[in-house]
Amino acid sequence: MRQWRYSVAAPETIIDSPELDPEIRSRALASGGYPYGAPYDKKVYKRELEILQIELVKLQSHLLASGERVVILFEGRDAAGKGGAIKTYREHLNPRYTMAVALPKPSDREQTQWYFQRYVDWLPAAGETVLFDRSWYNRAGVEPVMGFCTPAQTSRFLAEVPRFEEMLVHDGVHLFKFWLSIGREMQIKRFHDRRHDPLKTWKLSPIDLEAITRWDAYSEARDTMLTASDSPHAPWTVVRANDKRRARLNLIRSVLGRLDYAGKNPPLIGEIDTSIVMDARSFLA
Ligand code: ADP
Ligand code: AMP
Ligand code: MLT
Repeated sequence: MRQWRYSVAAPETIIDSPELDPEIRSRALASGGYPYGAPYDKKVYKRELEILQIELVKLQSHLLASGERVVILFEGRDAAGKGGAIKTYREHLNPRYTMAVALPKPSDREQTQWYFQRYVDWLPAAGETVLFDRSWYNRAGVEPVMGFCTPAQTSRFLAEVPRFEEMLVHDGVHLFKFWLSIGREMQIKRFHDRRHDPLKTWKLSPIDLEAITRWDAYSEARDTMLTASDSPHAPWTVVRANDKRRARLNLIRSVLGRLDYAGKNPPLIGEIDTSIVMDARSFLA
């Protein structure tokens, strides 16, 4: 592992400074071993996205007709782009049938319930797609890293989650699990944007700043989680997400590729970029 080269003793200093440290800015896209030197061309992105969004509209009609249910959960470090990917996915879909769920921290009452209970409330009915912006996997990531649960609770969660997901899948739910992966400088750059862009400040939470200093703990929690909860019935898909455009296009392709629907046009959907999207085993290798 390379040595982290910046002082992270006071991450607020980096984030608060009006100008982002030029070294961090210049390293952001390449951070964490990102395979491309430039973001995807914006015009090409828009053109390809529109084609994929039309396929999503076809998928929506199919799901309404067949009554199939879809769950797509989005996990990743703070600022990985979960919210933006969800927004892009839903942009042209009926919000009545494709809903985003981002649960707040559990209430005192919820704290005493079966851990999965409050998520079960939000699972889809016929024809619905539920996009979870964070999910039950909080118990394997932010909760142990931030000290909101005990190590024993995380271990028990990791032992039980494959069975929980197996029940969903056996009941016919199409389950997708995405881990959006970003590099360290990219995370800092996005926090900096959030601090200084009045349209983004609401996205910056105290937990975000903690995430900077707990980077390695998050990496360790992620590896443990991917290893324990990657199963044949509910595999993880890792998406390299330093470039939001490539991440969104390839994530949507990956969903469309695994579902059948009337009017599906595989040549239009295009090929998944395997340097961007991979299974957990390849990511961890
Ligand atoms: P975001 O999802 O917008 O990044 P935050 O960074 O504020 O939101 O929080 C990250 C996650 O941690 C959220 O899912 C939140 O519900 C959860 N969380 C925050 N505080 C607690 C807590 N005390 N116990 C359990 N989970 C918590
Ligand atoms: P990740 O897979 O996102 O955890 O990143 C791979 C490893 O590289 C992690 O151990 C990070 O701490 C480390 N890393 C990522 N970017 C940098 C960087 N710019 N400088 C030093 N280490 C880094
Ligand atoms: C992100 O990944 O960008 C965010 O932390 C998720 C969100 O905004 O909901």
